[in-house]
Order: sequence, then C-alpha cells, then structure tokens
Amino acid sequence: MPSPIVELDLDDWGATPEARPEWTAAVEAGKVLWFPRLAFAVRPDERALLRENMLAPKSRNVSLSADGVLKGAGGDGAEQASLAAMVGRFRAQALALVDALFPAYRGALTAAPTSFRPRRVETRRQSVRADDRRMHVDAFPSRPNYGERILRVFANINPEGAPRVWRVGGDFESVARHFLPGAKPYRAWQARALQALHVTKSLRSEYDHLMLQLHDRMKYDERWQQQGEQWRVPFAAGSCWVCYSDQAVHAVMEGQYMMEQTLYLPPGREANPAASPLQILTRLVGRPLAGVGAGVAR
Ligand code: SIN
Ligand code: FE
Repeated sequence: MPSPIVELDLDDWGATPEARPEWTAAVEAGKVLWFPRLAFAVRPDERALLRENMLAPKSRNVSLSADGVLKGAGGDGAEQASLAAMVGRFRAQALALVDALFPAYRGALTAAPTSFRPRRVETRRQSVRADDRRMHVDAFPSRPNYGERILRVFANINPEGAPRVWRVGGDFESVARHFLPGAKPYRAWQARALQALHVTKSLRSEYDHLMLQLHDRMKYDERWQQQGEQWRVPFAAGSCWVCYSDQAVHAVMEGQYMMEQTLYLPPGREANPAASPLQILTRLVGRPLAGVGAGVAR
C-alpha cells in the first residue's frame, strides 16, 4: 500500500483555500491528512498551562463541552479559566478547519467535547486493551454507534518541540480481512444482556461487536503489532492532522501535550459511503450489521 499520510500545505486556520473533493476522498479512504505548517498557537501567558498536573488526579484528559464546561482539569480557578479559553479556541479552529476541508459534511456533523491531553505517552501504564501504543481502530465498549463515523482533528502543541510519534497501519479492508475470520460471532442475547447490565448505553449492534473484535484482536496480536504493515510518523510540534480514527489503523508511541477534537458523522453521510468501515464489513460478512433506525446514546 502507498503511504497512508497525505501532506497538505495549509498554514492558516482561517484561510483555507477552495476545498478539493480529493481531500474528502482521501480521508474517507482512511488516509491521515497532515498539515505540517498548521500550528495551534499557544499564547505566551498560556505556556504555564502545559504541565502534567493541569490534569486532575485519575483523569485521562481534560475536556471542554460545547457549553463551556471544563472537566478533568487540575490547577487553580484562574488557570482553569485560561485553560478553558485555550481549549475553546482550539475547538473553534478545528471546527472551522473541518468545515472548510469537507464542505460535503456541512450540517451533518456533531462535535464532541474538545480534549487537552497533557500526559506523556511513553510512561503511561495501561492494560493491553486500553493501550493506544498498540495499533488499533477506535471502537468503544460502552457506546454502540451503529456505523456513525469518528472524525478527529489532532494538534501537537508540545512546547519543547517533541514530535507526537504515531504508527499508522495498512488499509482498513486488508486489516479487516486479516482479523475477521478469528472474530467471535455476534450473539443478540449477549448484546441484550450487556444492555440490561448497563455495560452498554444502548444495544450493541453486530457492527459494534465486530469493530470491538477488530480493535481487541489487533491489540492482542503481538506479532502483527511488530510485523504488520505500518509507517512510523513523527507529527512535529506545531502541526496538526485529521483522520477517521474508526478506519485509519493507528497507535501513539511518543509525545506529550496534544489537543483533540472529535466530530461524529451519521453513517451514510460520507461522500462515498461504500468506503466506510460499516459498508466494508457489511460486504465482507454478507449481511446487514447495524440494524435500522438505531440511535446513538450520548
Ligand atoms: C488514539 O486515538 O489512539 C490516541 C492518539 C494520541 O493520543 O495521539
Ligand atoms: Fe485510537
């Protein structure tokens, strides 16, 4: 497979040139769009917020909701107010960038809370399943999404110039073909039990089950982690990148201090829905996987 990274030369969050359909096609093909010259500007007075204990004990990251509620932050009241302003500024820039890059999605996207991730990746201790240093596609055990897309904007804001190093894997269909034969079959009664026990917020569909199986089987396969097709990509400090994280196979190996914005796109609202994980898996399995009219619980 050719490189999964597509470099774009934009350097201004507000002044995106006329959108090109090939940008949407690339992100929908599972590529990572990388903007090496597009920096999120941390102001000099915000620099002091870039420290690990701006995270509250036990939190994984700081989040800011659409209505301005900050969660997971350490620091004092004044610092939390400046952090909320800084994360809010990133949110506005990330949403404007996505709007400019992918006009086909206008009116269809829902923005999740924005996150600030001050933890150092290298020293994080996690279970295999939660370890994002292993290549995976994003899939969430408690929140079935029925094929809803997970579009993410990331910005490396490391003040010392440290890159955020990712590994990006081969294309979704090849990886799915590799792991699907070993996936446990979907059982509707199990999905109902998980919902009754409130393990899931709504009924886990076969699509959600298979995405989780892919996620877990990738992470637990030591040999594939080392030898599977992959590219090491150091995203420089002062750059940002955009991908469908439910499709682009990824792992984070090094780095500290990042901003992240997730946007959800309803299934079928892509410019080319046939390239989506839902339709790829549906073709590979040969039956509908996500049910009809199922809603996403938030
Ligand atoms: C992930 O989505 O797996 C983590 C990405 C990152 O922290 O850079
Ligand atoms: Fe991930």
